[in-house]
Amino acid sequence: MGVIEVEGLRKEYRRLRGGRTIAVGGLDLEVPEGGVFGFLGPNGAGKTTTIRCLLGLVRPTSGRVRLLGAPVPAGLAGVCDRVGSIVEQPAFVPRFSGRRNLEILARLRGLPSAAIDRVLERVGLADRQGDPVGAYSLGMKQRLGIAAALLKDPALLVLDEPANGLDPAGIVEVRDLLRSLGREGRTVFVSSHLLSEVQQVADRVAILARGRAVSAGRVDEVLAGVRGRGFVVRVDDPAAARAALADAGFAVELDGRELRVEASTEHGAAITRALAERGLYLSELRPVGGDLEAAFLELTREEDPRG
Ligand SMILES: Nc1ncnc2c1ncn2[C@@H]1O[C@H](COP(=O)(O)OP(=O)(O)OP(=O)(O)O)[C@@H](O)[C@H]1O
Ligand SMILES: [Mg+2]
Repeated sequence: MGVIEVEGLRKEYRRLRGGRTIAVGGLDLEVPEGGVFGFLGPNGAGKTTTIRCLLGLVRPTSGRVRLLGAPVPAGLAGVCDRVGSIVEQPAFVPRFSGRRNLEILARLRGLPSAAIDRVLERVGLADRQGDPVGAYSLGMKQRLGIAAALLKDPALLVLDEPANGLDPAGIVEVRDLLRSLGREGRTVFVSSHLLSEVQQVADRVAILARGRAVSAGRVDEVLAGVRGRGFVVRVDDPAAARAALADAGFAVELDGRELRVEASTEHGAAITRALAERGLYLSELRPVGGDLEAAFLELTREEDPRG
């Protein structure tokens, strides 16, 4: 059983001038217990909408969501003590200290003040707890938000783009924090439109494009499912080049005006030679990596309307 289970989730919004936006269009997702799960997708892919559906903040058009085994929204009250989240920028009172802000939240939720020391320590804000939040850097505010989400010591943490807007140092801070939270046996579900933010922390990822999961699984599995390393080749006569490369023993595919050749980096010279021997001269020979970035770009690439 997954900590988060989503089946056929669909959320449509009505447009002002008629028609509908399909924010999420038939999403299936299973997030196992423990570790960091990266929920990746470009802007507008439907990440925030999915998270809102998970947390019962909006009603799905159709589909099924379960959180820690409980159906959403009917069973949410029974599990919400074990789920911490940040969806919008967390709102704090700027002239109150970080500690005072957390005290207010803890009191509202009936949590002991011991929890405050624990979470401040956990997110590395213990020494700045007395400063007004208005004087915090963006990264510190973000960590205070995570501290607030940790107050109830949740088994599941759902964070929508916690590193958004942070500078590289802030991103590293948040990333280190997420990684260590995932190692404590919690499940950390974190969305991002930047692969680099989650590639190094996530054990598993789901890649979302246009409201659907285009790939999901362990990071290495997602990589293996994508075309391997190779080259993109451009020549004037792709059909002739394809034949030449196939004759030279390369696995080659025609992709529009481009050829994709499966080969390791050191085969660039052999590709050039095979083509030149047939009087075909390259206008471009570009290596394409087998890394997650390449996979992400390929999987989320908008379909070329020209076909
Ligand atoms: N309340 C709403 N009313 C109308 N359309 C909405 C609403 N919320 C989201 N949408 C639309 O649904 C689609 C998905 O939006 P969503 O915010 O879920 O994407 P996202 O993956 O979180 O993007 P981003 O990376 O920019 O945060 C977009 O086309 C968006 O315009
Ligand atoms: Mg969003």
